[in-house]
Amino acid sequence: MSSTSSSVLTLSSFNLLFFTQVLTVLSSTIKYNEYSTDKGGNVSIPCIAQGNIMWVKEHGSNSTIVQTGRVLVLRNVSISDAGIYVCFATTTTTRATTTASPATTTSPRREKEEEQQQLPEEDTATTATNTKKQELGQKADQDQDQGQEEEEELAYQAYQRTKLTVRTVPGPVTQLYFKASTILGFLIWRFNKTQSGGYPVRSFTAEFRNVSYSQPPANASFEHAWTRMDPINIAPNVRQMEVYRLAPNTTYEFRIWANNELGSGVVVTTNVTTLPETKEEDLIRLIKPDLDNFDPRIWIVAVSIVLGTLVILAIGLCIVLSKECYQASQMGTD
Ligand SMILES: *[C@@H]1O[C@H](CO)[C@@H](O)[C@H](O)[C@H]1NC(C)=O
Ligand SMILES: *[C@@H]1O[C@H](CO)[C@@H](O)[C@H](O)[C@H]1NC(C)=O
Ligand SMILES: *[C@@H]1O[C@H](CO)[C@@H](O)[C@H](O)[C@H]1NC(C)=O
Ligand SMILES: *[C@@H]1O[C@H](CO)[C@@H](O)[C@H](O)[C@H]1NC(C)=O
Ligand SMILES: *[C@@H]1O[C@H](CO)[C@@H](O)[C@H](O)[C@H]1NC(C)=O
Ligand SMILES: *[C@@H]1O[C@H](CO)[C@@H](O)[C@H](O)[C@H]1NC(C)=O
Ligand SMILES: *[C@@H]1O[C@H](CO)[C@@H](O)[C@H](O)[C@H]1NC(C)=O
Ligand SMILES: *[C@@H]1O[C@H](CO)[C@@H](O)[C@H](O)[C@H]1NC(C)=O
Repeated sequence: MSSTSSSVLTLSSFNLLFFTQVLTVLSSTIKYNEYSTDKGGNVSIPCIAQGNIMWVKEHGSNSTIVQTGRVLVLRNVSISDAGIYVCFATTTTTRATTTASPATTTSPRREKEEEQQQLPEEDTATTATNTKKQELGQKADQDQDQGQEEEEELAYQAYQRTKLTVRTVPGPVTQLYFKASTILGFLIWRFNKTQSGGYPVRSFTAEFRNVSYSQPPANASFEHAWTRMDPINIAPNVRQMEVYRLAPNTTYEFRIWANNELGSGVVVTTNVTTLPETKEEDLIRLIKPDLDNFDPRIWIVAVSIVLGTLVILAIGLCIVLSKECYQASQMGTD
C-alpha cells in the first residue's frame, strides 16, 4: 500500500486562494483537536460536521485534499502523514444531492486506489477527471470550470482542525566522535530530546568492530563481528562511554543508536584509528634515560650507607643498654 501522500491531489491556485480565505475567516470558530499514533498504525478521525465532507492537509501555503467522507482514515501511517488536517463540509445540504452520496458511501480505501489510478492520466483523460469530480463531491480541479461548479465549492466551510502526530523510533544521535589513545578512549555523543520520536528514550546501544583490513573484505561474512559495549543498555542520560582493551594502530568502526518503546532508532557510525604503539614508547622513553644511566654501584653505596647507619645505631643502643645495666648492678650492690 502506498503512503497517503502519493495519492494526494493538489489544489489548483484558485482553490488554494479559496481555502486560505475560508481558513482565515473561520479559524477562530473551528474546533481544534489532536491525535497521535504510532508509525505503521491506523487512525480514524471523524469530522464533527455532517454532510458532504472533505479533508484538506495543510502544507504551509500548499494545501491538498487528502480524502472525502466524514471519517478521515489513514492506514499504516508514516512520518509524512503527520501534520494538520482540516475538515471542510458543505454548509448547504440542498446542493449535495446526486454527487454527495457516492462520495460519502465510498470507502476511503477504494477512493485511494482509484485516485492513484487516475493520477497519471489526470491531464489527458477527460473521463478520469469526470469520475474524480464525482468522487470528491463538488470539488473542482480546474480553473476553467464553469461558474456552477465554483458556486457549489464556495459552500464548503472549515469545521475542524486536527493535528496528527506520528510517533516513531528515535532519531539519530548528533556529534558522535571517539577520543582515542592507544588502547582506550571515550565515545562521546549528543542527543536532542526533540528527536526521541514521541516516546522517551529508554537506552542507548553502542557497538564497535575492527575494520583494519589490509584489503577490503569480499563480502559481509568476512567482516569482523560487532562487539557490544558494556553496559548493553546505556542509561538515557549518559553521553559518554569509556572503551578499554582496544589494539593500538587499529581502525575501529563505532555505532550507536537510541531505543524507545517502538524499538531501535537511527544508527550513527564513526570510524577512528587508535594511536600507534610508538606513542606509548615515547612515554616510556621519557623515563628510560635515567634507567639506562643508572649505575649499580650507586646502589651498593646507598645500601652500605643505610646498613652502616643501622650498625652504628645498634652499637650505640648496646652501649646505652650495657651502661644502664652496669649502673643498675652497682646501685644494687650499694
Ligand atoms: C490497519 O488496518 C489494516 C487494514 O485494515 C489492518 O490489516 C492492520 O492490522 C491495521 N493495523 C493496526 C495497527 O491496527
Ligand atoms: C506545493 O505543491 C506542489 C505540487 O505538489 C509542489 O511541487 C511544491 O513543491 C509544493 N510546495 C511546498 C512549499 O510544499
Ligand atoms: C507500511 O508502510 C511501509 C512503508 O511506509 C511499508 O514498508 C510496509 O510494508 C507497510 N505495511 C503494511 C502492512 O502495509
Ligand atoms: C533540538 O532540535 C530542535 C528542532 O530540531 C532545535 O530547534 C533545537 O535548537 C535543538 N536543540 C539543541 C540543543 O540542539
Ligand atoms: C583487525 O583486523 C585485521 C584484519 O582482519 C587484523 O589483521 C588485525 O589483527 C585485527 N586487529 C585486532 C586488534 O583484532
Ligand atoms: C561470501 O562469500 C563466500 C565465498 O566467497 C560465500 O560462501 C558466502 O555465501 C558469501 N556470503 C554472502 C553473505 O554473500
Ligand atoms: C568506516 O569504515 C568502514 C570500513 O572501511 C566503511 O565501510 C564505513 O563506511 C566507514 N564509516 C564511516 C562513517 O566512515
Ligand atoms: C600502523 O599500521 C599501518 C598499517 O595499517 C602500518 O603501515 C604502520 O607502519 C603502523 N604503524 C606503527 C607505528 O606500527
